Amino acid sequence: MHPVHLVLKDDCSVQSYGWHADDVSGCAITDRGPQGATVGIRLSTGNWASWNTSSALARPSLNHAKTVLQLHDRSEERDRLVSEADALATQVMNDFEELSLLRSLASAMELPDAGVTVAETTVRCLGPLARGVGANSIAAVLLMDDEKTRMPPCWSDEALVSPEKLFQLVDEHRMEASQRPVVRNRSDHAVRSVTGDRIDQFVLLQCRSEGRLHGWLVACNRWADEGDEVPWGQQGFTTVQATLLETATHQLAAQLHNVRLLQQKEALYTDVVRTLVNAVEARDHYTSGHSERVARFAKRLSEVIGESDSVSDRIYLTGLLHDVGKIAVPDGVLRKPGDLDDQERAIIETHAEAGWRILHELEALRNVLPGVLYHHERFDGKGYPDGLVGEKIPLEGRILAVCDSFDAMTSDRPYRKGMSLSRAAEILRGGSGRYWDPKLVDAFVENIESFAQIRSDHRPRQHAVRPTPLHGEPIL
Ligand SMILES: [Fe+2]
Repeated sequence: MHPVHLVLKDDCSVQSYGWHADDVSGCAITDRGPQGATVGIRLSTGNWASWNTSSALARPSLNHAKTVLQLHDRSEERDRLVSEADALATQVMNDFEELSLLRSLASAMELPDAGVTVAETTVRCLGPLARGVGANSIAAVLLMDDEKTRMPPCWSDEALVSPEKLFQLVDEHRMEASQRPVVRNRSDHAVRSVTGDRIDQFVLLQCRSEGRLHGWLVACNRWADEGDEVPWGQQGFTTVQATLLETATHQLAAQLHNVRLLQQKEALYTDVVRTLVNAVEARDHYTSGHSERVARFAKRLSEVIGESDSVSDRIYLTGLLHDVGKIAVPDGVLRKPGDLDDQERAIIETHAEAGWRILHELEALRNVLPGVLYHHERFDGKGYPDGLVGEKIPLEGRILAVCDSFDAMTSDRPYRKGMSLSRAAEILRGGSGRYWDPKLVDAFVENIESFAQIRSDHRPRQHAVRPTPLHGEPIL
């Protein structure tokens, strides 16, 4: 039992007192007499301790003693409230950190753009994640579509270890990570044996959604705020950061699932479009591969002039489809070698509008309509179908006009050989501002070697050959 004492000074103020809060449950005046009073202290053990004050100072001393004890009781109450408030504040802070992290993640993810990859989506999220949990750097080890082959790791900040070391770390903990986040700090020798001196602490999490394993995240080395004296043993990641990372990784996994679905959808679109284009080009041997080449030139030209990846991808798709309206042009006109008469020219000029009509039915392909409809407009306003002038012609139409003409000039025809690069460049320069947008002609001719490379690299797709049935069995 702790000693209990109360010593008063002559002016009735307390000189010293002492008891342990846990030992005292109350106080009372147990006796009062001419020689002073006895102050009783009830101890938690159920016993009483008491002492006698001096006679001259009995009453004020007693009051003082009671006040001191009440204050002490209040102090205990206050400590309890402060402790509860601290716990509440910690919870609010944790909730706030989680909300802030999820908010910054949400803005980093947004809706996936057409063409965005799993790796790009992940990289966008790693920075906010690293800042949210105070990690020096977070690595992502992603898997390809086969869920086995690893992509090269990506990091939010500096790469702290080689890909091989990171893969080794993942391999050693992937089984445990399939159940829960793996948290390791400096005291764990396994950390150092695998990663050397570059990673002292880490949290490793599995990134999985809808039964699909996307890969793993590894948050490395937790920094303390500048000037923090972090006691040894309290450095590194705790369950607070592990829980935050787990919540955020679930969000990221759901987003990666969406990105993969979008990629599958886009691949399906592109395959359907190619099939459609093949059906059109199959009617004319000499135009085989024309749409694919024009699409590649158009994508390249779009990139050269600084358009975004999503615009360039859209222009590629437009290039594939730009002549789809030729399906409505009779063979006699479409396949006629040599010059067309006025009537035949009028028929073939309907293909731009016919393409618009065909594709207009497909909601998902609405964004290719401007290029399909306007790829035969002229910069001086003498083109078709609407005679638009200059930059009134949609960019896709102006880009396709240059690329379509370049492919036509450099391709062999039954009645002539394809032109040389220099001759094609000369014709493009000559028609700049009249047929074609001058800025686009400049960009094209300045990079004409790269367009020539695209042309020479392009190989027409081989059509599948159906196997011969054996023993009367159908081939599917
Ligand atoms: Fe055309």
